[in-house]
Amino acid sequence: MMLYDFIDIELRKLKGKGTYRTISVSETPQEPRIRINNKECILLCSNNYLGLANNPKVKQAAIRAIERYGVGSGASRLVSGSIKPHRQLEERLAGFKGTEDAIVFNSGYHANLGVISALAGRGDVIFSDKLNHASIVDACILSRAKIRRYPHRDIDTLERFLKTASHTPLSGDTTHHASRKLIVTEGVFSMDGDIAPLKEILNLAEHYGAMVMVDDAHATGVLGENGRGTLEHLGIINMDNVIQMGTLGKAIGSFGAFVTGSKKLINYLINKSRTFIYTTALPPSVCAASIAAIDVIENEPELRQELFKKVSYFRRGLKDASIDVMSEESHIIPAFIGDSKKTEEVSRKLLEKGIFIQGIRPPTVKEGTARLRITLMATHEWEDLKYAIEIIKGIIK
Ligand SMILES: Cc1ncc(COP(=O)(O)O)c(C=O)c1O
Repeated sequence: MMLYDFIDIELRKLKGKGTYRTISVSETPQEPRIRINNKECILLCSNNYLGLANNPKVKQAAIRAIERYGVGSGASRLVSGSIKPHRQLEERLAGFKGTEDAIVFNSGYHANLGVISALAGRGDVIFSDKLNHASIVDACILSRAKIRRYPHRDIDTLERFLKTASHTPLSGDTTHHASRKLIVTEGVFSMDGDIAPLKEILNLAEHYGAMVMVDDAHATGVLGENGRGTLEHLGIINMDNVIQMGTLGKAIGSFGAFVTGSKKLINYLINKSRTFIYTTALPPSVCAASIAAIDVIENEPELRQELFKKVSYFRRGLKDASIDVMSEESHIIPAFIGDSKKTEEVSRKLLEKGIFIQGIRPPTVKEGTARLRITLMATHEWEDLKYAIEIIKGIIK
């Protein structure tokens, strides 16, 4: 055996299981129709839900910011300072979410890693939904806290875990601070499209003295009357008590992520969050683009309405053909297939017919639950959606 032979062995195993990954190359922006691998097709797997990634107002804001501030930000903000759009974006996000303050991170992955490991450490306990995103799973491990993964959306088990943690003295080093409890959940679950029972979680958190962090990557800009996310959607108004994370690369169409909450929390993260401290800050143009996108989200609610009209139409089309769409709570439409190889095959056949939907397979989802994760944009043409439904029906059967 040569030193790197394990790579061939591992990759062969993935191919055998139907979970080998390759990356397609698009020559066009993330639009309802793209040209990918030299083929024109309808894109049905982008998180660019509102079409803002190629919106003229958003692009113009980025171009103007490049002309004014240049391209790179030079260093961590704690070293060479913020460039104006960094702070303007944070103020805009706090206003948008109705919280005291906000902090911007370089991606959702960075945000989850940085926030969770700053809030919980050795001797603390993190309660994490079993279907939470990989970045949350990794963050929990990185934190060195004890991890209790509760079954998906299972409030009763969460309560049992909280109760146990409250009665059991924690092992490990608890001398550095009183032990903390942190509940972490996605708002809208990225691969299943269902929504966390946040009201119940917040009630439990209050009763058992736990912090709550919501990863609202997929709801930000989309859910709620004003697009403010899952809390608004569920009518939860006490925002400052909740640590809300959101991403800027999905509905907001730009790049990066943010956390909103009290001023005290944001100050703490500036000082303690290693993925904020030890990395070069986002380019100012990206921040300017995000600000322009939030303006669009606030001023053009019809984009959200259009998205949901199309989602309802699409979901109905699949259900009429007895395709299992798993949940109906949000704009994410998972179409269940099960077997990874079959999912790969379906995805390939769809591409031949001009429809791009990536198959979602383990380890992103549990073994035996592979699926197509269908996501629409507010800007899709009705004709294209009608065509896609017919083709999917024919191929999945
Ligand atoms: C729920 C969730 N959290 C976090 C992330 C990471 O965000 P980012 O892509 O900005 O790193 C994603 C997706 O990428 C996600 O779906």
